[in-house]
Amino acid sequence: MNIFITKQIPQAGLDLLREAGISYTIAEKTLLQDELIDRLKPFDALLSAGFVKADAAFLQACSHLKVVSLFSVGFDNVDIAAATRLGIPVGNTPGVLSRATADTAFLLMLAVSRKAFYNYHKILDGKWQEFEPVADLGMELYGKTLGVFGLGKIGYEMAKKCRAAFDMDIIYHNRSHNEMAERDLGARYVTFEALLAQSDVLSVHANFSLETKGLFNKEAFEQMKPGSIFINTARGGLHNETDLKEALDNQTIWGAGLDVTNPEPMDPQNPLLKMPNVCVLPHIGSATVETRNAMAVMAAKNAIAGLKGERLPTIVNPDVYA
Ligand code: DGY
Repeated sequence: MNIFITKQIPQAGLDLLREAGISYTIAEKTLLQDELIDRLKPFDALLSAGFVKADAAFLQACSHLKVVSLFSVGFDNVDIAAATRLGIPVGNTPGVLSRATADTAFLLMLAVSRKAFYNYHKILDGKWQEFEPVADLGMELYGKTLGVFGLGKIGYEMAKKCRAAFDMDIIYHNRSHNEMAERDLGARYVTFEALLAQSDVLSVHANFSLETKGLFNKEAFEQMKPGSIFINTARGGLHNETDLKEALDNQTIWGAGLDVTNPEPMDPQNPLLKMPNVCVLPHIGSATVETRNAMAVMAAKNAIAGLKGERLPTIVNPDVYA
């Protein structure tokens, strides 16, 4: 049994594969989709880290694969319906990255509220001058309202931090009620419109899908509070970047923190990077030693199960077993 891995992953995952008697090959460079199809021919499985677009054509060309194991919780790069049709189980890594990703959302919220990245650049640019009582003031978060769009595991962790650190009120909009958040954090379910209208900080934690694509657009930003902060650590495709820039320029909203952009990587000349109330990070949500190790273990376990013909511990497309 052998597996092709698209990027170097932590040793913990590689050790598990080796102990299970699976030989692995790690790509020596980032491969284009056609190159990857070619490389995968002699392999039984794919462990995909990074942005491999596994659309229907790709999966059809690789229909011999016994499993596609994703080194991510997000599975928007895979045509799940096509994988199911072709009988390919797809695994992901939910849960283990929730805290680290929520930490990143919290970091961005705080950084935006104090214009941290902008002020850091002022130092680099030699613009740290004398004390100015009214220059570059931030805003405090105590007792403000956090709105969570998509209150799953990551959203829950973000809400918990905001409640503990700043005694923030929590409102959320979701496909279904999150009883644990309602019970533990006093979170209140609201409509999407109320979420936009009432949030001082609106943090996005939903999956990217046709349903959520571009949801945070001009119309949505116009319904938000003028003093509000927009945070996205989910997927860049959930917001419309042109509309976001316009909302910030017009002071329709106050600031934005992004760990995800569309496209990625963001163009270094992107005007958002120069705005005082904007903080952007290069998709580092899960990037801690602890979390990446845990993701490697989970991705390896999915791969091993798939190669042995067993049910994947964290399966994205359970219908494949129907
Ligand atoms: C995830 O796991 O989905 C992260 O965003 C990394 O891609």
